[in-house]
Amino acid sequence: MKPGIFIDRRIPDEVEAYIAEHCEIEKWDGSEPIPRETLLSKVGHVKGLLTAGTKIDAELLEHAPHLKVVSSISVGYNHFDVGAMKERGIIGTNTPDVLNDTVADLVFALILGTARRVAELDLYVKQGQWKPEVGEKWFGTDVHHATLGIIGMGRIGETIARRARYGFDMNVLYYNRSRKPEAEEQLGVSYASLEQLLAESDFIVLMAPLTPQTEGLIGRDEFQLMKRSAIFINASRGGTVDEKALIEALQEGRIKGAGLDVYAKEPVEVSNPLLQMPQVLTLPHIGSATARTRFDMAMLAAQNLVAALSGQTPPNIVEELK
Ligand code: DGY
Repeated sequence: MKPGIFIDRRIPDEVEAYIAEHCEIEKWDGSEPIPRETLLSKVGHVKGLLTAGTKIDAELLEHAPHLKVVSSISVGYNHFDVGAMKERGIIGTNTPDVLNDTVADLVFALILGTARRVAELDLYVKQGQWKPEVGEKWFGTDVHHATLGIIGMGRIGETIARRARYGFDMNVLYYNRSRKPEAEEQLGVSYASLEQLLAESDFIVLMAPLTPQTEGLIGRDEFQLMKRSAIFINASRGGTVDEKALIEALQEGRIKGAGLDVYAKEPVEVSNPLLQMPQVLTLPHIGSATARTRFDMAMLAAQNLVAALSGQTPPNIVEELK
């Protein structure tokens, strides 16, 4: 008999067909996220759960006594309570690597968009404000040959660094839990302390995963260290930044601008002051959201799930659960 699994969101038909060869599927087909109560009522007999940002905690695990594997269609897994999963011997998997280039592209969209004020100037043209001479008030900041500081030099960080060095001749500093001698040698990037990186960078990209150690990593003190001309980019998780401190830094002109794909609360509330700031580019957490990459992520998550339920070791078990 095939093992029963639950899929808590829509996935491509082809991916579902692959899973169906190996598992008995039950799924949520709504266009809105599945209500928590409904999810809890669905996992009682399943061995596998295919999800993305859904909170996997002790409460859910108590409702799922037969669960063996939770496979997430995401590289980030801050929605896993790894302690609770470990206690019950649950396998947890994610989808690294297949999204590196796509997220790095989006980070560059944020860097270029904020530096060259793309959204503001788009509005300027569309609102018929274009004067024959575009005044200096609309000038932007150079990206090429500027200093980029990357906080969190994982696989995505390295992919951003490659674009920065070879595409834009940037000087790249990085800060990471551990040094990356190979990246230093291959990409010509330099390790810096967090303080040095914040003080010297023209663009600061936060790419660190959200963990208890990185929660609120960038706050008031860190914004104080940045150049007044600095542009801050966050494409990791909203929780890695003290959002109040970010808002204050922008309101007080402590930094020049920000490009954001993630927020403390998502979807971001319309009353959030960040949405009123022309120097802030706001995207709706779409770092990995291209059709190709989202398909690849879903397929990889499906393969992780099927491997775990077939008694194999899935290729992408998250670090803390290995
Ligand atoms: C990821 O894969 O973690 C992206 O941020 C999408 O959630």
